[in-house]
Amino acid sequence: MTNLKIAILTISDRGAAGTSEDRSGPLLRQIVQNQMPAWEVAQQTITPDEYDRIRQTLLQWCEAGIHLILTTGGTGFAPRDVTPEATKSVIERETPGITEALRAESMKITRHAMLSRAVAGIRGQTLIINLPGNPKAVRENMELLLPVLPHALALLNELPDTEQQHRTV
Ligand code: MTE
Repeated sequence: MTNLKIAILTISDRGAAGTSEDRSGPLLRQIVQNQMPAWEVAQQTITPDEYDRIRQTLLQWCEAGIHLILTTGGTGFAPRDVTPEATKSVIERETPGITEALRAESMKITRHAMLSRAVAGIRGQTLIINLPGNPKAVRENMELLLPVLPHALALLNELPDTEQQHRTV
């Protein structure tokens, strides 16, 4: 089976400056490693909430053949929240079903879910998904996403046996 490569990007001014601990990035890594042992977390870093830095990191990872990029943070209403804009500048095809589902399901947990401006989409054969910044939201979103990701990545990468993917992850 193709070894799927995952990259995790925490987007946080305070996390990047080291003034607050990044809990969401390591949590995402742990969830992927525990739930999807066949996948490799190939890249992981933190950037501040800066459009160019976010964009460059996403582009680099797409170029490097990463299959799935999960970002956490910077999707809200604060003036420095630019994750969705940077992501939109990189993706070639939107995948609105993912963010529609995440917001709709998250609304059952907290009305604040409507404040997420997260986007998701595809560049080449890389799927990029924005997640909110707090660890609780990361956990809730990943519970919804994980069952669907193997089929999504199999389709995107034209893997012949999608059922095999389902069984092995
Ligand atoms: N989604 C889920 N499932 N659980 C949450 O606790 N928090 C919301 C929302 N989505 C939340 C959620 C809140 S409070 C905000 S402000 C937005 O995500 C954006 O978060 P971000 O700015 O940290 O990216």
